[in-house]
Amino acid sequence: MAIVITVAQQKGGAGKTTLAANLAVAFALAGRRVVVLDIDPQRSLARWHGLRSRHAGAVAVALSEAAGWRLAAEVDKLGRAHDVVVIDSPPQIDTDAKLAIRAASLVLVPVQPSPPDLWAAEGTLKLAADERRPVRLLLNRAPASGRLRAGIERDIAGASHPVMAAALGNRIGFASAFALGLGVLETAPKSVAGQEMRALYEELLGYLP
Ligand SMILES: Nc1ncnc2c1ncn2[C@@H]1O[C@H](COP(=O)(O)OP(=O)(O)OP(=O)(O)O)[C@@H](O)[C@H]1O
Ligand SMILES: [Mg+2]
Repeated sequence: MAIVITVAQQKGGAGKTTLAANLAVAFALAGRRVVVLDIDPQRSLARWHGLRSRHAGAVAVALSEAAGWRLAAEVDKLGRAHDVVVIDSPPQIDTDAKLAIRAASLVLVPVQPSPPDLWAAEGTLKLAADERRPVRLLLNRAPASGRLRAGIERDIAGASHPVMAAALGNRIGFASAFALGLGVLETAPKSVAGQEMRALYEELLGYLP
């Protein structure tokens, strides 16, 4: 059985697509057969994938864009041909996003350290709980320290939300790698962004079957 990681968060711009792309690259670099499934009509991850063919050295990642009534069957099919399926979902909890959460081995919810992001995450957390899917919050564009981060961490802890120890900082490397169709582990593995991504990947492995 393949691992299915669904990245979901109703809040727009939280970092879902960036995270999905970088996760796919991390698993692929580790030798796994990886497919990204873009179910967002914005098609950002599909367009990222389209840029990858320009780079002879880019690690192999496959793409699918199924949606609607074909989605559940497509996840099954992709899971038979790959080790890891990374699903990027739209900034709303629609029928497709619900199906993607239902199919997940793990649901990842990126949150920027601001109350609206955290509030928006609650809908996704509830849905994952209703579907009995394991779920983790991931702090994205997190300042290394400071009152905002400390306040959000207190709110998360107070609500007993499951949050990953690893976090991603606000780093231009994520945006610039994405613009090339790459992940930070391909463009700048030794950068701080690369180190953060590796720490995130290693922590994730511990949550997966
Ligand atoms: N850790 C980060 N550091 C710097 N920039 C980031 C980071 N994460 C995301 N971004 C930038 O934030 C913007 C939104 O990111 P992204 O498209 O991944 O969010 P999203 O949740 O997929 O958005 P949408 O809800 O529209 O699908 C992009 O410009 C991206 O480059
Ligand atoms: Mg997106």
